[in-house]
Amino acid sequence: MTDSRRKDRWATRYGLIMAMAGNAVGLGNFLRFPGKAAPYGGAFMVPYLLALVLLGIPLMWMEWTIGRHGGGFGHGSTPGMMHRIWRNPISKYIGIFGILLPAMVGIYYIYIESWALGYAWETIVGSYWGKTDYQQMADTFTAYLGTGTTSTFSFSPKAYFFFIIAFALNMIILSRGIAKGIEVVAAYAMPLLLVLGIVLAVRVLTLPPVEGRTIADGLAQIWRIDDWSVLKRTDVWIAATGQIFFSLSVGLGMVHSYASYLQKHEDITLSGLTACSTNEFVEVILGGTIAIPAAVLFFGVAETRGIVAQGPFAIAFHALPVIFQQMPAGHFFGAAWFILLFLAGLTSSMAMFTPLLLFLEDELQLTRKKASLFITVGAFLLMQPVVLFLHRGVLDEIDYWMGDLGLVIFAASEAVIFAWVYGLAKGWEEMHHGADLQVPRVFYYIMKYITPTYAVALLAWYFYDGFWGKLTMKGASPEVQPYLWLARGMILAVTIFLVWGVWYAWRTHPKFFEEEKSA
Ligand code: ALA
Repeated sequence: MTDSRRKDRWATRYGLIMAMAGNAVGLGNFLRFPGKAAPYGGAFMVPYLLALVLLGIPLMWMEWTIGRHGGGFGHGSTPGMMHRIWRNPISKYIGIFGILLPAMVGIYYIYIESWALGYAWETIVGSYWGKTDYQQMADTFTAYLGTGTTSTFSFSPKAYFFFIIAFALNMIILSRGIAKGIEVVAAYAMPLLLVLGIVLAVRVLTLPPVEGRTIADGLAQIWRIDDWSVLKRTDVWIAATGQIFFSLSVGLGMVHSYASYLQKHEDITLSGLTACSTNEFVEVILGGTIAIPAAVLFFGVAETRGIVAQGPFAIAFHALPVIFQQMPAGHFFGAAWFILLFLAGLTSSMAMFTPLLLFLEDELQLTRKKASLFITVGAFLLMQPVVLFLHRGVLDEIDYWMGDLGLVIFAASEAVIFAWVYGLAKGWEEMHHGADLQVPRVFYYIMKYITPTYAVALLAWYFYDGFWGKLTMKGASPEVQPYLWLARGMILAVTIFLVWGVWYAWRTHPKFFEEEKSA
């Protein structure tokens, strides 16, 4: 472990909770959630809330526990942490997921976050003002990204400029470490995000009726169950459960790394629950009040579902700008929306390279400066195909393998290892060290039986449904396929590097070597 790593700590409990909540609150709350919920109406909330209680919150506690436990041995990333809870040669390689997934998600996530920054600027200066038709705004977005091209590259100077700013900001925060970087940013960004979210939610709730529709019709899309038979469909269960994983950042390795900075006497149960609750308040109350209800009010239910079907960015970047233009003080509310999105993105993305940074510092013994430089150069290079081949589906391909399937694989693995290999009795005791909240006993049984089973069942479903088609690129045109291979090649290259890194660290690092000798 390097010196800068050993000295770093969360300065305050408030900072820790804001950082953990910020880690969870992200683009997923405002872009992904409306897109997942809208097609199903209020019935979506049934599997969503069940998954929150049976999977999300238990996994969050498990990850805080695994992270704090591993941190006590000087591990800030999951290979070392998994090794400490399961002394099997394979466990450290399973832990690679907890570095690979967030880093690969990070390389496209920062780009999306930069669109929000760019659109905040565009809204303030009013560059799209006057384009009051939905299709015009969709075309404006395509032009902003430079994706409406038949040429090889989807390049747009404006989008690239904001990408550089967002990227630089992330890398600066990362290099400053926990207390001076991540904690300081979260301590200011999260309250600001909450204020912006509340202002926008109040604005949407007080909007006057449009063509006979009221805001209550919009809220009904989230909160009223008109059709219970939706619950018989598997897709609503998969969509809701996947959303809980992504939204809470579980199965990604980011929570573990933040928790590694905790000391054994510091609370996990209450802080973990507070981070979950903050995320859910932002996602369901704020996220659920802003985008879908506003879109339903202005466009109606059928058209809103059509918009959502066009992808996760259609509501945020096409529909809402149309709406802002029809509101008094629309520049202000529009800018507030995009700044909110950007802050949500930033507070998550700054956690995404932390596991890699700590792996390089703790296990490969690099100094913080060298580790940050390595990540800056490596991430920048990997981001180029995401940016330049956006119109060829590179981003979506990485998103499926890493942000969709990958996190379910890792979450299912760690749930089984924690509950059954490490043992829940031990895990429960470890989780309650220094606890400010005694978790009700029923969660012991949920964490032991339901969480692992539910996560494994979800994983099995992923393999049964969609996996083979994705693997064989079913439906992808021949001209796009080389780019999808490129995306897979990038994932593979990073995986090989990490496998090598783990192999090398465990062979050269004295702390592991001594253990093996004495074992
Ligand atoms: N939890 C983060 C999000 O919702 C990754 O965007």
